[in-house]
Amino acid sequence: MSVTSHRAKALSGTVRAPGDKSISHRALIFGAMAEGTTTVTGLLEGADILSTAVAMQDFGAKIEREADGTWTIIGCSEKGFQSPAGSVDCGNAGTGVRLIMGAAAGYKLTATFTGDASLSSRPMGRVLDPLSQMGVSYKAKEGGRLPATLTSDGKLAPLDYTPPHASAQVKSAILLAGLNTDGITTVNEPKLSRDHTENMLKAFGADVTVKPHGEGQKVSVKGPVTLKATNVTVPGDPSSAAFAIVAALTTPGSDIIIENVMMNPTRTGLFETLTEMGGYIRSDNFRTSGGEVISDIHVKHSKLHGVTVPEKRAPSMIDEYPILAVAAASASGTTIMRGIAEMRVKESDRISATVALLKANGVETTEYEDGFAVKGGAVAGGGMVTTHHDHRIAMSALILGLNAAQPVSIDDGSMISTSFPTFFELMNGLGALIDYAKGK
Ligand code: S3P
Repeated sequence: MSVTSHRAKALSGTVRAPGDKSISHRALIFGAMAEGTTTVTGLLEGADILSTAVAMQDFGAKIEREADGTWTIIGCSEKGFQSPAGSVDCGNAGTGVRLIMGAAAGYKLTATFTGDASLSSRPMGRVLDPLSQMGVSYKAKEGGRLPATLTSDGKLAPLDYTPPHASAQVKSAILLAGLNTDGITTVNEPKLSRDHTENMLKAFGADVTVKPHGEGQKVSVKGPVTLKATNVTVPGDPSSAAFAIVAALTTPGSDIIIENVMMNPTRTGLFETLTEMGGYIRSDNFRTSGGEVISDIHVKHSKLHGVTVPEKRAPSMIDEYPILAVAAASASGTTIMRGIAEMRVKESDRISATVALLKANGVETTEYEDGFAVKGGAVAGGGMVTTHHDHRIAMSALILGLNAAQPVSIDDGSMISTSFPTFFELMNGLGALIDYAKGK
């Protein structure tokens, strides 16, 4: 159902970033593979993560919600994942389905994966093809699209694999499958993608080595190994904090603090870019939690100017281009964002969805095959944005409306709960004017 945002007065206050989606998926999956009980605190309770929790139960793990954000997982241990009784519905979650396919591949089982309309349109061949080189067989729609049925005899061969593009999901799926092989599985990344899998696998007792490899790195895991349960504290999600940060930068008079934001350098490309654009973003109170550096971020309304975003920065901010485009719409001059063709295979084709979002609201935008350029200035607004079941397109459009002359509407706000279930309350608590009752 539609949701509308209106021009806001200054945003102010202190909020806490919700748990990181990438780390929450991994905590549940690794806990389900492990021997013993893993306790996770600060888990993101978004729809994507709940799909992964149910999927892990389907494979045999025992999972309990103890309190808000605190979950326990009794892992499958040496017995391993079992064939699920029915199909495994991964909802809207690309990270969920791709990592679970990799994890499941190492056990003797058959599993059919399904997802919603958006997930069913996304390419799974990038994971299923390397897994088939390790020994699994699969049946899927064209390009490995869902529904896909994966069968493994649990006797995979290790693999040395060079993916065509930097993808943490592909890297993770192969490394997880490698845990149940007899030997060393290596992924040679062309560029450095988020490194949560290698960090967290070490915490679960796996033998992981990381070496430089051109602009990226070579990550190896030694199998066979049964992961050992450990406790995981999930840091705040920089990709969710991004929406409040851009809202404060672009809404005159704003001054906010977002606490508990993960500062892992494989995730902070947006903060760097917004700072280069003239944004007042100050990180303070650095500390370590659950093996990740976190900080509190102070943001003030700023006069932004356009920049050309270096292409090599893309993996560290791949999910943040739609909200960066919103910041660029209020900046002086033009912001050029290229080398991001991967955005076309996210929850939606995010290049065309972002361009359509901006054009519908009077922002001059040029689309390229591998990105877009946004000419900033006063934002007219008044548009109805098609979200294509994409949470980040939905939230980006609503943030645009906070600084537009006319209200901005989206066709559907329900998908926002996949990654940021408290988005409406958190943003309106800061002073945003998002009329979401209709969207519930
Ligand atoms: C993720 C990796 C990224 C990102 C996604 C989360 C992860 O995808 O877009 O939202 O948790 O590994 P790719 O690895 O396909 O770039």
